Amino acid sequence: MCGIVGYIGEKDATPIILSGLKRLEYRGYDSAGLAVLQDGKIEIRRDAGKLSQLSALVNDQPVHGKVGIGHTRWATHGIPSARNAHPHLGTTGRVVVVHNGIVENFLELREELAVEGVPFNSDTDSEVIVHLIERSMGGGNDLVEGVRLALRNLKGAHGIVVMSADEPDKIVAARIGNAGGVVIGFGEGEMFIASDIPAILEYTRKMIFLESFQMAVITKDSVTVQTLDGKKVESQVHSISWDPVAAEKGEYRHFMQKEIHEQVRSLTDTLAGRVDFEEGRIRLPELNLTPELGQQIKKIIITACGTAAHAGMVGKTMIERIARIPVEVDIASEFRYREPLVDENTVVLAISQSGETADTLAAMEEARQRGAVVWSIVNAIGSQAMRLADGYISMQTGPEIGVASTKAFTAPLVDLYMLAVLLGDLRGTLSADVRKKLVGDLRLIPDLVGRCLDREDDVRQVARVMKDVRNMLYLGRGINMPIAYEGALKLKEISYIHAEAYPAGEMKHGPIALVDRDMPVLAIVPRDPWYEKMISQIEQAKARGGCVLVLATDGDDRAAELADHIFWVPEISWMLSPVLTVIPLQIFAYHIASYRGLDVDQPRNLAKSVTVE
Ligand code: F6R
Repeated sequence: MCGIVGYIGEKDATPIILSGLKRLEYRGYDSAGLAVLQDGKIEIRRDAGKLSQLSALVNDQPVHGKVGIGHTRWATHGIPSARNAHPHLGTTGRVVVVHNGIVENFLELREELAVEGVPFNSDTDSEVIVHLIERSMGGGNDLVEGVRLALRNLKGAHGIVVMSADEPDKIVAARIGNAGGVVIGFGEGEMFIASDIPAILEYTRKMIFLESFQMAVITKDSVTVQTLDGKKVESQVHSISWDPVAAEKGEYRHFMQKEIHEQVRSLTDTLAGRVDFEEGRIRLPELNLTPELGQQIKKIIITACGTAAHAGMVGKTMIERIARIPVEVDIASEFRYREPLVDENTVVLAISQSGETADTLAAMEEARQRGAVVWSIVNAIGSQAMRLADGYISMQTGPEIGVASTKAFTAPLVDLYMLAVLLGDLRGTLSADVRKKLVGDLRLIPDLVGRCLDREDDVRQVARVMKDVRNMLYLGRGINMPIAYEGALKLKEISYIHAEAYPAGEMKHGPIALVDRDMPVLAIVPRDPWYEKMISQIEQAKARGGCVLVLATDGDDRAAELADHIFWVPEISWMLSPVLTVIPLQIFAYHIASYRGLDVDQPRNLAKSVTVE
């Protein structure tokens, strides 16, 4: 979590750092700060709270210089306060650090430094880093050597950016493990550093990504990447195709609302170049899926966290039904410690929007060590989840900024469906007619998603009525059971309303005891193979006095009769129905949170990339 930025060049660093932090605020918003080299001295401005606090402070007490670093914090050690905000300055006042990650052995290091007489000015784990660097520079080492030696002492995963008043021509950045990325962008006579692409997309599209155990020495004209042992490394320069405007809110009130509405475009892009409607075939070249590998697979384990894991649950039904391969879905934080049973005939497929989630990356590493084939479905270009994999599918959603994931949920649903068809094709589980029908159904997606979005106002009106509920129960079955989980997650994370999801058939085994007038039930009932079962579940809830919201297929009078409130979705093949059914639930959660006056894009306690365990 946390966002870090850096700038070195000829322009005023302060506005560039502030605009980079603005785009990284989704990574943490407990405090923010920046350090700029002004007249040979390091000037720091930092404050608790959101970036607007820092901007106001900088307005009051301006600071200008051509080199600077900044940070937006998601607190782990030490409460959110100005004192604990980054950057952290060393005792000499000549070295300053911003840090993303957790220094796992910080207590030990802090004690060691305190015994040596080092005074501490914060309660953070990060502050030890700057003191270690200064200590390492004590013997006449320069900044680069100081950073290298200091990093040897740290346990845990880290991204750091360091600057020294005595070496104003450079910034040093380093990455150890999976604490979030370090991206370096090339300008003309200027260079940019950030934890994520959108922060610097406005200035450059030419970027390199630091790998774990690498550090970079960045001057205004060059970057030298080396391992922590000092060996020079050639990094691949990527040209990023994302549109910088995609990282702006535009006419929408919130990023989440904008991103919900972007789903027509993101799903059109998801299909583009991958679907041959004439032949009824799918192409996913970056997956490196050969016919031999297709035959060899005995089991697929999908691993992910949160919303991405819900997408995986839908994918299980798709792949099992279409390609007839057994699929397990395992939450990454569980999988990594399970001593999972995988071998070279198992594919472990990770799904991640950020490509940085620590648990997901650890699960991929665990799978690799145990000999599995590792794939990923990932949004952030060049992220670790993309690079760690033997093959990947790149979500075509562009940057997702709202903390609650929306367009990065529907894209992997379609990716998983395409993967299922491709695997089915390679393994001969599909007749040509069935394959063509399955592929043909994809053609409808963008239009039907658009029709769901056109009904935003109907959903908003229900949200207005329901905005003060205290609890909700979401029910679904079969392929739409994970959509109940996803709908409930969206509601709780942005509106702070307690929402639970259940496979509807489990109701009678306990949760039905909860149902009364104060526990509205939202039942997902499209016309799919579980339709009749769901209808009887609604009847059971109604019989106990429950207020029922029903999500049904256009024209379903039977569902409408049972509903206190209804959300409609257009007809589509049942296998693709989750792509549509989730949309009213995203809109519903968005408007409830909006009516409650909450900070939709930056809900409390959350951050977009979860780079800690
Ligand atoms: C919920 C949400 C999270 C993420 C989860 C995994 O709206 O966004 O549950 O889905 O933290 O993140 P990624 O996909 O980046 O690995």
